[in-house]
Amino acid sequence: MKKLLALLVNEGEIKMGLLLANKNILIMGLRNRWSIAWGIAKSAHAEGANLIFTYLGEREKEEVQTLVRALEDYSVYPCDITSDEDIDRLFGELKEKYGLIHGLVHSIAFAKSADIQNGYVNTTREGFSMAMDISAYSLAAVTRRAKDVMTQGGSVITLTYMGSEKVFSGYNIMGVAKAALETGVKYLASEVGPGGIRVNAISAGPIKTSSAKGVRDFDNILDVALQKAPLRREITQEDIGGSVVFFLSDLSKGVTGEVLHVDCGLHIMGI
Ligand SMILES: NC(=O)c1ccc[n+]([C@@H]2O[C@H](COP(=O)([O-])OP(=O)(O)OC[C@H]3O[C@@H](n4cnc5c(N)ncnc54)[C@H](O)[C@@H]3O)[C@@H](O)[C@H]2O)c1
Repeated sequence: MKKLLALLVNEGEIKMGLLLANKNILIMGLRNRWSIAWGIAKSAHAEGANLIFTYLGEREKEEVQTLVRALEDYSVYPCDITSDEDIDRLFGELKEKYGLIHGLVHSIAFAKSADIQNGYVNTTREGFSMAMDISAYSLAAVTRRAKDVMTQGGSVITLTYMGSEKVFSGYNIMGVAKAALETGVKYLASEVGPGGIRVNAISAGPIKTSSAKGVRDFDNILDVALQKAPLRREITQEDIGGSVVFFLSDLSKGVTGEVLHVDCGLHIMGI
């Protein structure tokens, strides 16, 4: 069925619904069904993508493998983003199996809860390095390897949060890491652009996930978002998934270095 639809797309008979047909898309950062990465996977799958997933380690393996079994075409690989050996092995295996990839979704962040919750002024040196390494540096690390398998051009997308622009008292070191990540998006976009590779970020509104549990006052942030966002509703996995499909597809082929707010308009509001 998928092959038939892909054929129709190639012949120009179907324009919508298969924006990612025949595209190999790597999604890094799937943990469970609440993950933003899972919403992205569902949206990309609906548009015909061949999906490749990574998970952090043995603790996440079973849940991720059970989750992705519902999809038609997929591969799953372990990858701890703090390990250069893991990243090299991953991209080596992708090159061997797929030859090339068209898209990479980086949906990964981490900081120790003590460093998120105790105020930025109290961030430890070790906690700062860890948060920056996993949440900001890792985008450069994977983009560097991805460009070797994005031989027909490609699209890299990361996830960020408004805590990079304004102070959210429970966000602290993650806000600083997200600011570095967003600036990194611009530098990477400028460097890999000549190879036809685009790099963009989505600044997502608050959404309940395992990582969000580590943010103090998260329920309060959600309540405020609901009351103040122009669209007066919470952001959903589908909202983010749809925008990521836009960035992965040729619909956004002239867009790079961008940070797109997908937050029901919350970012335009003052108090
Ligand atoms: N939930 C929100 O409200 C929200 C809002 C804006 C942006 N974001 C961003 O979205 C992204 C995804 O987060 P989420 O909310 O879906 O939570 P999540 O916990 O489902 O996803 C975070 C992922 O990061 C992975 N990870 C952590 N350390 C890793 C490492 N060393 N190597 C490889 N993977 C590692 C985890 O295994 C997990 O899969 C993050 O960048 C987060 O900051 C989340």
